[in-house]
Amino acid sequence: MTDLLVRDLAQLATPAGTGGPLRGSELRAVEVTEAAFVLCRDDRIEAVGPMSALPAGLGDVEEIDGRGLAAIPGLVDCHTHACFGGDRVNEFSLRAGGASYEELHAAGGGILSTVRATRAAGEEELVSVTELHRTWMRAHGTTTFEGKSGYGLDHDTELAQLRAVRAAGGVPTWLGAHTVPPEYDGADAYLDFALAEVLPEAAVLAEAADVFLERGSFDAAQARRYLEACRDAGLALRLHGDQFTESGAIQLAIELGARSVDHLEATGPDGVAQLAASEVTGVLLPASALFLGRPMPPGRALADAGALIALATDFNPGSAFCDSIPLVLSLACTQMKLALEETLVAATANAAHVIGRADRIGRLRAGFAADIVLLDASDWRHVAYHLAGDVVHTVVEGGAVAFRRTA
Ligand code: NIG
Ligand code: FE
Repeated sequence: MTDLLVRDLAQLATPAGTGGPLRGSELRAVEVTEAAFVLCRDDRIEAVGPMSALPAGLGDVEEIDGRGLAAIPGLVDCHTHACFGGDRVNEFSLRAGGASYEELHAAGGGILSTVRATRAAGEEELVSVTELHRTWMRAHGTTTFEGKSGYGLDHDTELAQLRAVRAAGGVPTWLGAHTVPPEYDGADAYLDFALAEVLPEAAVLAEAADVFLERGSFDAAQARRYLEACRDAGLALRLHGDQFTESGAIQLAIELGARSVDHLEATGPDGVAQLAASEVTGVLLPASALFLGRPMPPGRALADAGALIALATDFNPGSAFCDSIPLVLSLACTQMKLALEETLVAATANAAHVIGRADRIGRLRAGFAADIVLLDASDWRHVAYHLAGDVVHTVVEGGAVAFRRTA
């Protein structure tokens, strides 16, 4: 790979700091440089600064003309279910007619219908569909994505999903406790199987484990059992919690030292205070709340209380068929009243922290990955301002152009 110089940028915006997540008043700490450059060597950033500080005598470098464009770090989608078979457009249609997501789940549709389609797809198809989804995400500026299993719920398909996420360049999370598949008589019997038969191999393929702690899936005792076994096998821990009901996910996450608790649409003031006093990141998924017509999570209250927060799409076929972080940023601003700066930090540096990579992605800084989004606007804030707009002009991933908008 050669050197790459992005020059004459109208503006460059990046979370402040040298690594690690930002919270409290620092959640708004975005550094903006007017008339800027980014110099990349191989897959790393070599230097960032105002054009007046551009090193002389660079020799033979590939150049991108940044005039009229604003640069932000490659976006990090730290919560997706991007590997799945089939779709749920019929369910979407039923929900549009008034059926609820939880009713469809209880009737054996919902997650279980995607389990059937994912089991029926071969591994090759799972790889190609996850790669396709990666191209959709990239066109919206996502340069790193996390991808969960959880639509196999049997030995072979769970492991195939983890391999497919990895093959498509994602960060795999074993969502071995998503819901109970029909061939088991209850959650405990299913966990007996999953922990004995799948965990040993999942622990090698995945970086983290996740559980859906909710009525109709796993209760707090079952979630604890699953997470403790996963922690003992070396996996980082995450939870889907407080999506429909407050059921102890925050307390469990704190006690077990989880990286994150995600969703939080049902979280009340006590949960906000507990999360704010902890090192667990609250991952907010406003596209999922929007898609299901549910209340937004208390993003403003969490930010004000000093909690660590991140933003992600939750991209999946049932509760959030949405692959756009810019749309998520718009929703965070308009529906949760987060400041534009807070949303950028939440979807870059803080999202990188959730997947254990805050020392190398999520900032435009020397030494960080050369993952850069060029926006078709001279002010970076257009990333959230243009609701569902095509604001991404060019995506540089690992020092090379990976996407360029045509027309
Ligand atoms: O994050 N809540 C549980 N799991 C996913 C939805 C999965 C699905 O509906 O297929 C979520 O919303
Ligand atoms: Fe999810």
